[in-house]
Parts: sequence; structure tokens; C-alpha cells
Amino acid sequence: MNYIGIDLGTSSVKLVLMDTAGHIIANVSKSYPIDYPKAGWSEQNPYDWYDACMEGMKELLDGQDESTVGGISFGGQMHGLVILDKNDEVIRPAILWNDGRTTKQCEYLNEVIGRDKLSEYTANIAFAGFTAPKILWVKENEPDNFAKIDKIMLPKDYIAYRLTGVHCTDVSDASGMLLFDVKNRRWSSQMLDICGVTEAQMPRIFESSECVGTVKKDIADELGIGYEVIVAAGAGDNAAAAVGTGTVGDGHCNVSLGTSGTIFISSKEFGVDSNNALHSFAHADGKYHLMGCILSAASANGWWMDKILGTNDYAGEQSQITDDDLGNNNVYFLPYLMGERSPHNDPNARGTFIGLTMDTTRADMTQAVLEGVAFALRDSFEVARSLGIHIARTRICGGGAKSPLWKKIVANVLNIPVDIPENEQGPSMGGAMLAAVACGEYPTVRDAAEAIVKLTDTVEPEPELAAKYEERYQKFRKIYPACRDLFLELAK
Ligand code: XUL
Repeated sequence: MNYIGIDLGTSSVKLVLMDTAGHIIANVSKSYPIDYPKAGWSEQNPYDWYDACMEGMKELLDGQDESTVGGISFGGQMHGLVILDKNDEVIRPAILWNDGRTTKQCEYLNEVIGRDKLSEYTANIAFAGFTAPKILWVKENEPDNFAKIDKIMLPKDYIAYRLTGVHCTDVSDASGMLLFDVKNRRWSSQMLDICGVTEAQMPRIFESSECVGTVKKDIADELGIGYEVIVAAGAGDNAAAAVGTGTVGDGHCNVSLGTSGTIFISSKEFGVDSNNALHSFAHADGKYHLMGCILSAASANGWWMDKILGTNDYAGEQSQITDDDLGNNNVYFLPYLMGERSPHNDPNARGTFIGLTMDTTRADMTQAVLEGVAFALRDSFEVARSLGIHIARTRICGGGAKSPLWKKIVANVLNIPVDIPENEQGPSMGGAMLAAVACGEYPTVRDAAEAIVKLTDTVEPEPELAAKYEERYQKFRKIYPACRDLFLELAK
């Protein structure tokens, strides 16, 4: 059988058709717009997602034998608030994971309800991008819309709902709502009460590789696939990427250089960072994970290349950066173009170049952007270290992982070997693997990962370069604290 994996990302949906053995038969990508209605806000139209998924699936299956499709599943951008009325109409555009409008609601949750209570109920505290503060924002700012809410869901769950008619979510994605009791894998009644919503408005919870239903007949006919095609719940994109790169089981790490940047650490035990700087979420393999998330990673580089330099020749720009330049850059960049989540939890933080001189070149600034993202990820890595977690090596995925230079910078800034999976399309691959498990092709997610994921290379850190980056990182980490109060003032 073959399996469709859908990565419902922020800039586009990426789809793969995977065979039983894990070979990619075809892949397709379809982009959709993102709106930034105000500084720090970001929204998308769920109907655009659905249209792109349907068009993408048709293109993916073009020239293939549709009857071989056994299952479909997802990795999806996390935390986005999708609300439907009783007629299943989308009430307002989805408010995305990197939207920073909920400062006031986060303050209420963290200070008035209290971090301890939130952590007790959900294993996490409020961050601007999480779903619960957005529900409170709609309640306060758009009471008419709030009153219309019949169903609440996350981005990929909207697609599953359209395909199957089942109002569902999975444990990994639910974890990022701040409405979910992560340890016990169920809704937190306390958090639902705090947000003024009921369990009837919430989706039914599944494990990521569980079947939620079959594709509706009219959709199966439109796609030319069988009526028995299974839809599995899928996972948040980071958990799906972890599955797709084989980051399952205990103590493994994956770095994702997508629109966001994440450090994902799988764990067989439930655990909480006592400062809640790292998220404590359920994993798609039935266990748990810790995660740090920076809001602008490949998107910071995309902003610099497309918007500022006005080029799409990423490799050409990076070819100006020589081995001698690495570890010797005096320009630093804070990649906080959408505020920052981990570890600063500061929606007012902003992108900043510092250290420019008359001899600074375009290549120095390009290098600073790539390094700034790696340093920002290192901040989360340091939090994990401070918890006594030993990370010996990592895997990597996401669009940014296509760049050999960026992978080298990451390996040396983190000072650990970076293993390169055959396929850098983590979430879509993970989605297809979850579908394969749901169809009984593999007994567990772990078995699927062991059988399917192959590594093609390892980027080893170089002691001399890692030492230079260590010195640079110690300088980088002083920049944000020096700017924090100013960011707040500038935001007023
Ligand atoms: C994770 C997060 C991002 C999005 C990106 O907490 O917010 O990685 O899932 O799609």
C-alpha cells in the first residue's frame, strides 16, 4: 500500500506519497498566503489550507494508481486557533502559532491564574502563540464570534474534519493548546473552565497513529481513492518531524529549521522543566517530549534573502561565506522578527543586527542571520542541559537543513554531531509513517521509524571552530538581556 503524508505548514502544504518500505514515490508543495494584519499578528484562512491540500493530493496522485492509497495522515503547524460555527463555517481567520497579540491574556493566565496552577493542570505555562490565550482574546475582543463557537480545533484537525467528518485531534498537537493535561493525555477541565469553553466544543482526542475514520465518499470520489482509505489523527509538525527523522524512544534529539526552529527531545517518561522554558508535550510515539521553539528560523533567512536582499539565490549568497569567515563574524543578529518564544517568552522582542561597522559586508550579515538562528536554538539547548539532559547528537530536518553551510554552523554552535536523514521533509514523512501504522503496516511508531528512517551523513563539529563559536555564543547571549527593556519601551 501507499500512504499520503500532509505537512500543513505556515508558508505551504507539503505532501508526500510514501510506499510501505518508506520510499518517497512523489512529492508536491502548494503555497498559500499569510496575513499580518498588525505588527506581531499572523492569520491564515482555513479554506485556503483545504483547497491547497485537495489540489496537492490530486497532483500527488496524478499518474499513480489511486487504488493503492491505504491511508492519509498529517503533521500540522501547531497551536493555531480554528473555530467553526454550528453550520461548520469558519468563524474568523485562524490565529497562528507565531501570533503575538495575546500579551494581556498570557499575563492573566501566568500571573493571575498563576504559573504553578497552569503547570499543574497542563505541564506548561502560557506563551503568546498557544491556543488558550487566543480563545480568551476572542472572548474579550470579539464576543460575537466567541458566542458562535461550536467547535474548536487545530489547523491539521480542520483538514481531518473536512476529510472524515470526525471532530478529532491528537495528543501531541493538543498538548500545545494549554487546555490539555499532558501527563494524563486528556482535556483539563480546569483549563476549559478558565477559558469559558466546554468539552463538547473540543475535539475527540486520539493517539497520533490511531485511525479517526475513513475518507468521506464524495471526497474519495473527487480524489479517485477507495472508500476504505483511513485517516489517522497525525501529529503537531514537530512530533511528526520527529517521527519522520526517527526521533522516537528515549533521549533522542531533532532540530528543525523550518519557518520556526525547534529543538525536540524525546523521552519515555513524562517530565516538566521547572521553569517551563521548554514545553512539555505528548509525543506521537505514545510517550513524551520536551521542546524549545524559536519563532523565526528559516523564515528569518527567507525574510533577509527575499525581502531585504531581493534575491532567491540562497546558495549563491551563502557561497560568499568562506570557511575562514566561520567563527569570526563580528556582526550578531537576534532573529526575533515575530517576538520570541523559547526561552525568553517575549512577544515584544524584535529582530536586531548589532556590531555593524563600515567594513561590514552583505555576506557578514547573511552569515549573522544563519548564526543568530543557531545561537537562538542553543539557548533552548542550554535550558535542556541545565535540567541535566545530556544530548549527545541530533538529527536535523526542515527547509533550512538543505543548506550545508547552515548545518555546519548548527553542528559547531551546538558542538554535537548532526546526523542527516535521507529525507529532510520531516513532518510529511512522519505523517505518512503514522498513516502506515494506523493501517497496520507496522505494529508501532517506533517499529516504523526503525524500519524506514535512514541516515545518509553526519556533520561533525570541528574542535577549533566549536571553540570560536562558544566564545561568540557567550557574547550573543548577553544581547537580548541588554535590549529587553528597550524592546518593551519600543512596543508602547
Ligand atoms: C511549535 C511551534 C511551531 C509550529 C510551526 O511549538 O509553534 O514549531 O508548529 O509550524
